[in-house]
Amino acid sequence: MKTLINVSNRLPITIGDKITRSSGGLVSALEDLNETFQLKWVGWAGGNISDSSQKKKIAKEIRKAFNYYVIFLEEKDAVNYYNGYSNSSLWPLMHYMTTYSRYETEWFEAYQRVNHQFADAVIQQVRRGDQVWVHDYHLMLLPAILKDRSPDLKVGFFLHTPFPSSEVFRCHPNREELMNGLLGADLIGFQTFGYLRHFRSTVLRVLGIESEMQLIVCKNRKTALGVYPIGINAGKFSEELNSSVYAKHLADYQKVYKGKKIVLSVDRLDYTKGILQRLDAIEQFLSQYSHKDKILFIFISIPSRESVEAYQVLVDEVQGRVSQINGKYSTIKNVPLNYIQHSIGFSELCALYSLADACLVTPIIDGMNLVAKEYIACQKEKNGVLILSEFAGAAQELPNALIVNPYDPKQMVEQLNMALKMDEDEKRRRLEPMKERVFCYDAAYWAKVFLNDLSSQANSEVEMVNLQRISLKDIQPLIKAKRVALFLDYDGTLAELKKKPSDAKPNRAIKNLFAKLEHFPQTDVYITSGRKKEEMINWFGDYNFTLIAEHGFFYSLPRLKKWEAFDNSADLSWMEKIIEVFNHYFGMTPGSCVEVKTSSVVWHYRQSDPEFGTWKANQLVAELYEMLSNLPVEIHHGKKIVEVCSIHINKGMAMEYFINKNKYDMALCAGDDETDESMFRITGDRITSIKVGPGKTYAGFKVDSPAKFRQFLARLIEKRKGKNL
Ligand code: UDP
Ligand code: G6P
Repeated sequence: MKTLINVSNRLPITIGDKITRSSGGLVSALEDLNETFQLKWVGWAGGNISDSSQKKKIAKEIRKAFNYYVIFLEEKDAVNYYNGYSNSSLWPLMHYMTTYSRYETEWFEAYQRVNHQFADAVIQQVRRGDQVWVHDYHLMLLPAILKDRSPDLKVGFFLHTPFPSSEVFRCHPNREELMNGLLGADLIGFQTFGYLRHFRSTVLRVLGIESEMQLIVCKNRKTALGVYPIGINAGKFSEELNSSVYAKHLADYQKVYKGKKIVLSVDRLDYTKGILQRLDAIEQFLSQYSHKDKILFIFISIPSRESVEAYQVLVDEVQGRVSQINGKYSTIKNVPLNYIQHSIGFSELCALYSLADACLVTPIIDGMNLVAKEYIACQKEKNGVLILSEFAGAAQELPNALIVNPYDPKQMVEQLNMALKMDEDEKRRRLEPMKERVFCYDAAYWAKVFLNDLSSQANSEVEMVNLQRISLKDIQPLIKAKRVALFLDYDGTLAELKKKPSDAKPNRAIKNLFAKLEHFPQTDVYITSGRKKEEMINWFGDYNFTLIAEHGFFYSLPRLKKWEAFDNSADLSWMEKIIEVFNHYFGMTPGSCVEVKTSSVVWHYRQSDPEFGTWKANQLVAELYEMLSNLPVEIHHGKKIVEVCSIHINKGMAMEYFINKNKYDMALCAGDDETDESMFRITGDRITSIKVGPGKTYAGFKVDSPAKFRQFLARLIEKRKGKNL
């Protein structure tokens, strides 16, 4: 049986005099999978246990009883990682509240340390073929750490919170690290499509990586994306509703609250839950409501993250507002707000859900909100009305609730009035489909679908169509041949692509390689680039290489620094018109620029807004096709460039010219983009072609990256050395 290693910040246990297991939705969701997986759980025990023998004892006990693997954090790490980075920096950020989001370098250091500590624990547990499922914002670096340490391990990540707009996420000082951390996962799950959409646009805007709806390819690895709205363990609620303990609580409450309309709220005391906004609406409601003795708002407010300042401030504010409202609207017979600031037992909670005429679930933002679903699951005795914020993930699944904007107190009051007056048929009509959904798509269903998708992810390494990575065996003819020519594109092939083309100047690694290549006997090097003549002379003019500039328009023999055109008679009269069009696009697209070469014009948009740049580029290409249909030109839409160049010229022709002229025994050509395909289209026994990086190609082989390609060339030279050429 496969093993699933579930990883979350907290283990679902409480360490008191005895160790007890808490029964959250996740626990039951995963328990349901015990026919498919053997479940292990890695997480923090919470609290601060410093005595090492006690730690050992607790760890052993928990492992034996539940198969859970406890992580103990150093006290300072726990404070900086949990109170600091997770709950004072990331939590507000994920919930759009940048004004609450604070940042301290030592928090991030602790967050990194703790994510590594979790990785150590997971790696200790995993065996070949196991799957790992990481949960939530506390562990955003963990997927990449795990992948680095164990590339074959299948890692899923589920985000329980919202994912904010890229405009919000980009405010965070560690935006790149966090995004790269997540992209270590094979599958990332979100609660709603909106969060997935935001994630993709952040990948684009923060990392500059374009993606498909359900797939991101980054550094030759694939990460699948999906939407998996989390459900509740609905069965557990219906079971409870049949229990005698529940029945007793319900009977008690019915007696105590006889003759009153009950409106229930249940939430952690968190600023995302819209508690203050809700109190504003309740105050407005009470000011207008004529039966002040007959209405009761019950607030179950669960203390949360009490060491974090923003939460302490909130508690004070809520308590202040509650007493103010109660002071103003209490009558001798009724206190309108019954504010309970502690957790209550499960049976009591179910009885309250069941009793309440309406449930006010009005977060200003919430990843999902399980309370909304739990309230629906408990409507058995009568039909209650759910009033639900449009900003809770649950609103997308429960559109038959009374949907409200929590920032609009007037609308909340209207909907509350409507709920209290609603006739039974209408209540039933609204409830039935919601109940069906909550029972059908429960927590176990959620976990099953996520884990099935994770299992079916193929190896996350990107495969290029029909292409093999080049190996030593494939280049035996090149190693053995007497005279060899190497036609090498520069940007994206020998050198990594840079945002500013001028930054791609040969670095130490490239210079070392060039030093090896330039005096190697019987091996001629041609740098075949789209760059201009001047740049090529500046960067490569002193090497013993033939330079081919502007995609094959000019060449300069080794060290001559004198350019010849392959075809002096080429018609370039079209250029002026193109320059005019390109200048128009330059004006309309901030960040773009125009480069005029002798035989071509290029519009670069690498530094423009990525989506806007792509949109304008597609528009430009369409315009060019219409405009240039009868002219002797080719249009290339390459990597963040649109180029128009003469049809008489391409790298392939230049390569053919030199192969024929110099009668080489073997040739190798390599490149990374569309302009190199003209070389790859020339085939034959004497030519080996290599595509560097991903993408469709005519080349015969692939290499993952410029760094790998440089290694490959160095090995080729090494091997040829031994051949006594
Ligand atoms: N809950 C609880 N103790 C209580 C009342 C409620 O633990 O006294 C549970 C509630 O049943 C629900 C969870 O707290 O399952 C709150 O989850 P939700 O998704 O609504 O909000 P979150 O706390 O995750 O932000
Ligand atoms: C939210 C988070 C969970 C977290 C829970 C309770 O639901 O998404 O990851 O466990 O709140 O917060 P706490 O800080 O008490 O674990």
